[in-house]
Amino acid sequence: MSSEQTAHKVSVDLMQRTDLPEILAIERVSFPSPWTEGMFLDELRIPQAQKWVVKIQIDGKSLIGAYIVFWLVADEAHLHNLAVRKEFRRHGLAYNLLQLMKQTAAQMGIAKRTLEVRASNQPAIGLYRKCGFVIKGRRPKYYTDTNEDALIMWADG
Ligand SMILES: CC(C)(COP(=O)(O)OP(=O)(O)OC[C@H]1O[C@@H](n2cnc3c(N)ncnc32)[C@H](O)[C@@H]1OP(=O)(O)O)[C@@H](O)C(=O)NCCC(=O)NCCS
Repeated sequence: MSSEQTAHKVSVDLMQRTDLPEILAIERVSFPSPWTEGMFLDELRIPQAQKWVVKIQIDGKSLIGAYIVFWLVADEAHLHNLAVRKEFRRHGLAYNLLQLMKQTAAQMGIAKRTLEVRASNQPAIGLYRKCGFVIKGRRPKYYTDTNEDALIMWADG
């Protein structure tokens, strides 16, 4: 997505099983403990799980630029996964996927949204603040891989 490159077609589609190899590659460079194929397959089977991918047409190829998984449960939306391919970061893809989460939840009459984030993940915390989330709690040493705390963030409305 450099400035020399021109007009990319961007679409948001339902996540498919065939997207998983690309998604797993993004997972591996994005998280200390990436989700496995089995975890994504479970999400694909669960009706209350919303799973969307951003596809970008670039140089005649379609690439997955980003994806989101969230659940709509009772009167709350829970973010479960969100990542952006490294070369497409800082172009608003994650912001737009969180807007999609907000709008999808609103269509079901759901305003409250929540997530957990590693306390050291400043890019994600900055993103969530921009989307109206505020820190409401902390789970000490929640992430056993790094012994890191989780911050619990909420947005409403
Ligand atoms: C966090 C992540 C999803 C952000 O995706 P993105 O598409 O680059 O984010 P956006 O371009 O939509 O950024 C929106 C806002 O988030 C904040 N932000 C995003 N990346 C940031 C960074 N590296 N440093 C500081 N703030 C950042 C900024 O406020 C930004 O607004 P601005 O560009 O107007 O300053 C991406 O860096 C990523 O995939 N990280 C690895 C996976 C991850 O941590 N997922 C979240 C798990 S809880």
